[in-house]
Parts: sequence; structure tokens; C-alpha cells
Amino acid sequence: MLENDVHTLRQAYADARDETDPFEKFNRAQGMGAVRDPYPDLAAMRAQGAVHKLNLAALMGDVHLTADNLMAASEIYTVLSYDAVFEVLRDGARFSSAGYQKSMGVVMGHTILGMDGEEHLRHRSLLSRAFTPRAIERWESELVRPIVNEYVDRLAARGHADLVRELTFPFPVRVVAAMMGLPEADHARFHRLAVELISVAVDWEGGIRAARELRALFAPVVAARRRTARDDLISVLAHAELDGMHLSDEAIYAFLCLLAPAGAETTYRSSSNLLFGLLTHPDQFDAVRRDSSLVPQTIEEGLRWEPPLLGILRTASADTELAGVAIPAGAPVSVNLGGANRDPSRWSEPDRFDVFREQKPHLAFAIGPHVCLGMHLARMETRVLLQTLFERLPNLRLDPDAKDVHITGLIFRSPRELPVRFDPARPIAM
Ligand code: HEM
Repeated sequence: MLENDVHTLRQAYADARDETDPFEKFNRAQGMGAVRDPYPDLAAMRAQGAVHKLNLAALMGDVHLTADNLMAASEIYTVLSYDAVFEVLRDGARFSSAGYQKSMGVVMGHTILGMDGEEHLRHRSLLSRAFTPRAIERWESELVRPIVNEYVDRLAARGHADLVRELTFPFPVRVVAAMMGLPEADHARFHRLAVELISVAVDWEGGIRAARELRALFAPVVAARRRTARDDLISVLAHAELDGMHLSDEAIYAFLCLLAPAGAETTYRSSSNLLFGLLTHPDQFDAVRRDSSLVPQTIEEGLRWEPPLLGILRTASADTELAGVAIPAGAPVSVNLGGANRDPSRWSEPDRFDVFREQKPHLAFAIGPHVCLGMHLARMETRVLLQTLFERLPNLRLDPDAKDVHITGLIFRSPRELPVRFDPARPIAM
């Protein structure tokens, strides 16, 4: 987080409080609309040093960021270079994740995101049983392909669409809800509640209410799967066991609460960002459409270039030093994944979207003990999305009449819309 960002967030939070639509409220609180391109500022700061100290108390005034852990601290340390971000994320003992407990934990419960050490390891190994390669293969054919195709069916004959509103926004949350095994009638409600839950920083009562309602949505399904297992994620969690340890109902609810934002918000935004990159670089779009072997590196370049989630949080466990900067015990550390992914010491011309660039691992999914548990699922969803669009929407291009389509946001980033044109599918002759 940089000084300008704090001012922007102050304004964004104030705007978001007045917003009544839950999706728009969350978007505004993420600086969407207010921040178009944070990368020049990040680059300028990174050029001065990998780690920066910011006097938070002086800047924030009465604005409550997500957490009292931030507000209690008078200063925050922002980490911007690839090497320093890598060092923080790899060292879970020196840089704790427990800070999330005081923010998202209040509404989600005790999730793996906010656990450290042995406790994290044990929970993660139980939860990761739901994300095996076999499960991902099955989700691809049984959930992701049918769901993506269902949305494309609705627009394919039309010749034009907004790919955000009609495809990238709704499909990942449907996938998460279907993976869990929630009844289809509850999917829309699940999405709205999930967004309200993570808007807790700007609407406290709304966040708490959403947490309560989500638990009420999950409870009968968890109870039913405890009695009789089915072929879904809640069944796996209800019956997972490690050295005699089972997941309590509360632990399952917490994980399910985490999955909605973790699995849907990120994938919706990352696939929108990738499509934006391709649609605004038609030569690269054509090359990938012609040669499907380029799809994996295209997905990675999209994630490197515009990660959907720019910043994550850690707390220094003890007095320490990072890239020559002393950080006191208890200080919040804002880890800038976007800054790391555009570090010019690792990637030449890092601001350029280039699916042909030399491939090197990026940090959009983080790294270390908390590396994204759903990254293979997210990659598969994005691959299916691209393949389906290539197959079913010939001559896909950005609508030439569209004005100023762009990516926006400070914490979560994505385009608000992707107006496109394509050759309409002909109705099947009977
Ligand atoms: C492109 C899409 C995605 C991106 C960029 C992304 C990014 C991340 C990042 C950066 C973290 C680390 C957070 C931290 O340590 O503070 C994380 C953790 C996590 N992600 Fe993802 N994620 C994506 C998709 C998904 C999906 C589809 C799921 C599951 C449905 C998922 C589930 C999780 C979980 C459960 C964690 C917590 C892991 C732990 O604490 O051990 N993510 N993700």
C-alpha cells in the first residue's frame, strides 16, 4: 500500500458506504473506478526501495480498513519487489497470516487463510483432499464445461455481448456453488451473500448478517452429507480424517465461506483481465486461437500482467529485517503481488502483455505455505473458458463502438465490462 492508495481507499470506502447494490459496494471499496492504473506509482516506489514504511495513523484518520489489526498499528510496511515478496511469503514463521483472523475471521470464522504453522498444515492437508487432480478432471467435464456452455448458449446467436456481465462474472460462482453441492435454487443467493460477507469493512452489519445467512444455507447440506455422502465437496469435507482428526461443522462453514470470495471473485476477475489482454492485442489473440498449445502460457501471462488480487497481508512475528528495512514485531506487512509480478529485474518490459515472453513463475497465486489451494482449478476454468470462446464465437473482437474499456481497481482489479462482437451462430436447421 502506498500513500496515494490510502487516500484513494479513504474516498473509495466513503463512496462504498453510500452504495446500496452489494456488488457495486464491494467494487467501489476495492478502488474500482477510482484507480485505473496503480502500476506507475508502484514502479516509482519500487525503484526507490523494495520495502516502504507508511505512517498509517496519520493517513487514515477515521477510515476503518478491514481490520483493527491495521488500525491498531500506527505503521504498515509495503513490499514491492519480486525477491522481497517471495521472501515474505515463503517464510510463514517470520511473517504470520494470523492478521486475517482479526479481519475476515470475524465474519468467516477460523479459516486456513489465517492459520500458521502446524495448525495450518493439518487443516490444509484435510481440505486439499477435495482438490485432487481427479476431482478437477471431473469438475471440468461435469460442471465447468456445461456451465460455461450454458452461458455461451444464451449469447451465441446474438453477435454481440458483454462478456463480463454475461459470462466471466456469473460462471465461477456457479462452479463453486455446484462443487459444494448447494441446490441450484440457492446459487444466486450464495453469490450475493458471499459478496456482502467480504464487504464487511464498509458495511459491518451487512457482513455479519451475510455470515449468519451463509451458515444457515450451509447447515442443512452439511448435516445431510454427514449422514449420507454424495459426490461433492461438502461430502469430502464432512468425512475427511487425519490422524483421528475430523473437521468440525464450524471448520467446514468457515472453509465454505472462504471459498466463495477465494474461488469466484478471483477467477471472475482474472479471466476478465486475460480476455481484456487478448482482445486489446488481436495479433496475440489470433495466434493463441490458431495454436492451442499456447493456451497455458497465455493464462500465466494474463495472471502475471494483471493479477486479480493485488495485495495480501502478513504480520511480522518478531523484530526482523527485509531488504535492509527494519520491521518491528506485530507490524502489518502489505505484500504487493502486482508489484512483484511487474518487477523489471525479473521480466523485461514488465508492463507489456506478451504471451510469447520467456516463461517464469509469477506470484499471482502467492507462494509458500498459503499458495492458492484452488490454482489448478482456476487454470482449468480459464482454459475451458478460452477454448469455448475460440470454438463457439468466431471472429470474436472488442466492440469497435465501445468507449474506453479498461481494467480498474486497487486491491481487486478487472474491467467493469467487455463489450464484444462476433459472428452469430446460425440456428440449427430442423
Ligand atoms: C485466478 C484465480 C485465483 C487467484 C489469483 C488466487 C489467488 C490466491 C492467493 C494470492 C492466495 C494466498 C492468500 C494469502 O496467503 O494471503 C490464495 C489462497 C487461497 N485460494 Fe486462491 N486464487 C484463485 C482461485 C482460487 C480458487 C478457484 C479457489 C477454490 C475454489 C481458491 C481457493 C483458495 C484457498 C482455499 C486459499 C487459502 C490457502 C491457504 O491459506 O492455505 N482460489 N489464492
